[in-house]
Amino acid sequence: MPWNPDTYHQFEKERSAPFDDLMQLIERRDGLTVIDLGCGTGELTRRLADALPHSDVLGIDSSPHMLAKTAAQVRAGLRFERAQLEEVTGQWDVVFSNAAIQWVEDHPALIPRLLSLVRPGGQLVVQLPSNHKAPAHMTILATASEAPFQAALNGWTRQSPVLTVGEYAELLYQHGGRNLTVFEKVYPHVLENAEAVRDWTRGTALVPYLERLPADLHEAFLARYTERLRTKWPTSPAFFGFNRILFAANLDSASA
Ligand SMILES: C[S@@+](CC[C@H](N)C(=O)[O-])C[C@H]1O[C@@H](n2cnc3c(N)ncnc32)[C@H](O)[C@@H]1O
Repeated sequence: MPWNPDTYHQFEKERSAPFDDLMQLIERRDGLTVIDLGCGTGELTRRLADALPHSDVLGIDSSPHMLAKTAAQVRAGLRFERAQLEEVTGQWDVVFSNAAIQWVEDHPALIPRLLSLVRPGGQLVVQLPSNHKAPAHMTILATASEAPFQAALNGWTRQSPVLTVGEYAELLYQHGGRNLTVFEKVYPHVLENAEAVRDWTRGTALVPYLERLPADLHEAFLARYTERLRTKWPTSPAFFGFNRILFAANLDSASA
């Protein structure tokens, strides 16, 4: 099961709060060139472009399913292309990414690579989930480690590449980032119940598991996962605190 735009958009309101916080970190000027890495279906890229007067914005994403929806957002000054975010080349005034770089490994290598896409004096502005140790995510690992799923996955589980706020701050500084803003925030979502928590992760963290599991094990995996979630959230509502890291850095002009 690849990225599914409909599943992802089920919690649109909750998912847009960190985007709004991230937008506050952009230093706004007229006529900025911007790239949105891992733009998904492009609604938020459109909001980004609309908020930056006379900007020229490119959204890139690796998923053809997500990109198929971006056609509705295209306008003068806003376009979309298929690309891997870790392979992009070129330079922009603002290199932006909301909830995408957690899917790319090796952040000590990725952060300098992203900074290399920033024009001197420009900005890198990123939000990524840091919720990999939270119950909903640990429960995915526990379920994937049980029979028959463990064998079907050949023992594979996804290890998060996400670093600590301190490590991002240091990496940014060491590779020419200045005027650093780096923080972690808990987004307090109140979901209906354990099933809603499952549905949330189904749009994101479960994707690589469902991609690897044979289709005839999907229902069994989701049922076992939900059963475990119900022990954590037996009643309604379910408080679902979601940690995210946000950072912004200017590229030092001397780094050119
Ligand atoms: C959680 S969605 C976020 C989408 C959008 N930025 C938003 O905030 O709604 C993550 C997106 O990252 C994309 N993605 C994952 N790995 C990627 C990669 N290596 N290169 C480009 N896009 C990637 C996925 O296809 C998906 O659309």
